[in-house]
Amino acid sequence: MGKSKSNAKPSANASTQSNPFVRWFTRLTLLAIVVAGCGWLDSIKARWYVFNPTFLHELAQSAISASPDSTDGMIQHILTNLTETYPTTVIALNINSQDTSSPTYGQLSHHEPSEWVFNNAGGAMGAMYIIHASITEYLIIFGTPLGTEGHTGLHTADDYFHILKGEQWAFAPGALEMEKYQAGDVHFLPRFTAKQYKMHEGCWAMEYARGWIPLMLPFGLADTITSTLDIPTFYNTARITGREMLRNLLIGKI
Ligand SMILES: *[C@@H]1O[C@H](CO)[C@@H](O)[C@H](O)[C@H]1NC(C)=O
Repeated sequence: MGKSKSNAKPSANASTQSNPFVRWFTRLTLLAIVVAGCGWLDSIKARWYVFNPTFLHELAQSAISASPDSTDGMIQHILTNLTETYPTTVIALNINSQDTSSPTYGQLSHHEPSEWVFNNAGGAMGAMYIIHASITEYLIIFGTPLGTEGHTGLHTADDYFHILKGEQWAFAPGALEMEKYQAGDVHFLPRFTAKQYKMHEGCWAMEYARGWIPLMLPFGLADTITSTLDIPTFYNTARITGREMLRNLLIGKI
């Protein structure tokens, strides 16, 4: 093997391989172009954002005051408002059930059990319903009636966690006291930062993330691949996320 390789080298690619400086110069130039391209995309990503954090915070608060005793009512309030606020030409939302074979066809999607999936990430576990997913934004309902605790993940997106019901606790290394977030609060986690968090029993939230969403997906699916091995959950998460991202790309929402 070694012998035939060394024989083939000089004859086959003599011109390109003979000069290591040319080879490395080409590689480094390509790398610099890719890095510059990523930096440029990152600097202009805000042009693709549709949601506004202030608006979403007000919406979460108005959902809570409109139906303080019903999480289902809050979600309905949010979905109804989003439908009326955002034209379908601007953003695709997963609000009305698309499945014609389902008894809940045409009704609000969150009443469709197949639109809910477990989410295991950073050691925490809950269920989520994806309202919107595109390359630069997602909006989901996430929570658990049982409570859970884990690592937020270190993300390439800013995260706005709007508490609808219950309480979320959090802390970052260096703090000796916990942060507490209650219904109506928003827990803002800037990109590239992480905390330990706990959603107390019966905690539900509307989570909005803006940044590079596909880069968050490995964290969102890692526990499923390495721990729960819940293949249907993996499949459904990929199916719904992919479907919603595609629906948005088709109307030009990046
Ligand atoms: C949606 O919610 C926002 C924030 O609470 C509110 O300002 C707006 O009027 C609502 N829109 C509709 C159509 O209900």
